[in-house]
Amino acid sequence: MITEQLFIAGKWSAAKATLPVEDPSTGEIIGTLAAGTADDVDAAVAAAQAAYSGAWGKLTAAERGRVLARIGKAVEARADELAQLEARDVGKPLKQARADALALARYLEFYAGAADKLHGETIPYLAGYTVFTLREPHGVTAHIIPWNYPMQIIGRSVVGALAAGNATVVKPAEEASLTALAFARIAHEAGLPPGALNVVTGTGEQAGAALAAHPGVHHVSFTGSTAVGALIQAAAGQNAVPVTLELGGKSPQIVFADADMERALPFLVNAGIQNAGQTCSASSRLLVERTIYEPLLEKLSARYRALRVGAARDDLDVGPLISAAQKARVEKYIAHGRGDGLTIAAEGAIASNAPRGGHFLAPTLFAGVAPDHLLAQDEIFGPVQVVIPFSSEDEAIQIANGTQYGLVAGVWTRDGGRAMRLTRAVHAGQVFINNYGAGGGVELPFGGVGRSGHGREKGFEALYAFTRLKTVAAFHG
Ligand code: NAI
Ligand code: MG
Repeated sequence: MITEQLFIAGKWSAAKATLPVEDPSTGEIIGTLAAGTADDVDAAVAAAQAAYSGAWGKLTAAERGRVLARIGKAVEARADELAQLEARDVGKPLKQARADALALARYLEFYAGAADKLHGETIPYLAGYTVFTLREPHGVTAHIIPWNYPMQIIGRSVVGALAAGNATVVKPAEEASLTALAFARIAHEAGLPPGALNVVTGTGEQAGAALAAHPGVHHVSFTGSTAVGALIQAAAGQNAVPVTLELGGKSPQIVFADADMERALPFLVNAGIQNAGQTCSASSRLLVERTIYEPLLEKLSARYRALRVGAARDDLDVGPLISAAQKARVEKYIAHGRGDGLTIAAEGAIASNAPRGGHFLAPTLFAGVAPDHLLAQDEIFGPVQVVIPFSSEDEAIQIANGTQYGLVAGVWTRDGGRAMRLTRAVHAGQVFINNYGAGGGVELPFGGVGRSGHGREKGFEALYAFTRLKTVAAFHG
């Protein structure tokens, strides 16, 4: 059995209560996590503040970069071990879990190199003045992490904050905290000073809420549901501190008749079923030009019929959902679609050796869905895609922008002018032309508009978000 504790000020400590760790592939309880309380959050914030005022805060930018580079090498060397752990904790197929571990290593490499390349500017001003800006860390940053991609989100959020010089407190999701704790272990072995990274596991309602509202926290980064994002922003508002909210979406891929269909096909389906559809940037809406609607639907359906679902260790196309609750949530949407008489064009299949207690669900492709139907509007967060026909460029734009969300969009066309018009018109934080996701590069700023949230992580943008600007005007005559 796994028995995990809290990690505060470089030390492990037990909490008063525990939470179960479930393997979603089997439904078995494989260990316990510490259920951190408001007191534990207090201790973690104090430890972060001490690190910021002490050993960690005193490092130069280049020295911080060197520490992150060492952690990156250690993560890379232990990618298989981290992948095994993540596959067990989240239920994701091993190759995805391994990709996540390597992405974390790559974030560490990128931000290690960027740490000493972040600087302010000089501003031409009145005679007798020299004006410049300083980019300073916020101090203590809080990171509330979801269960779908723990390692990748630690990479784009926590690592960016550390590179900018902040000390961090991380609250992983109660459904999947193991790799956050493993990362803390690795980081400290690689020489991260105590207190620069603290991990308080526990429930959102207890540990998460205490962290978001803590007066000693100077920036809050949150990835998760829109409803909780609103609570986080309100809590941080009480302390007038900035927040970054990454709240998921209902991201479209828009396929025109002139697109390279063979190239598009794997992207169209994979972007919907990767991580069992539990991806903030999942493409859950496929908008298809009417003239190619029937043949494309046939090809999409064939791919769906070939999809195999099973235990993470069997490394099939799709793993289980994270929990019984998430499975029930997704099944409710599918039942709603059936109840409304929507056409199910195709489904994947659950492998015969899939463990009985796992939270498996057959990927489901709905066809001919009206753009305003619930299934074309809500973030389902499961392996469910809807295909929506359109007749003109204008209609495609209208449908694409017709949800409350705006995270990512894909445009498939060989017409360069159209690709640019769509790029301008579509509400999204990232637009992909003739691809989707671009392999998830750490360099690419990421975040949403509308109910998908605000603020950007990844790339250099994260470093701007994790620093505050000070303007200095010196009069010297
Ligand atoms: P959630 O938003 O409740 O959980 C995300 C994180 O927030 C977890 O660490 C949780 O402990 C924490 N949290 C929960 N309540 C909190 C509170 N009151 N104060 C502070 N922190 C709190 O998401 P949940 O319930 O796991 O999933 C529900 C839906 O949210 C999903 O079906 C999906 O639609 C969406 N979601 C989107 C994600 C994304 O990547 N954008 C990730 C996870 C969920
Ligand atoms: Mg929740």
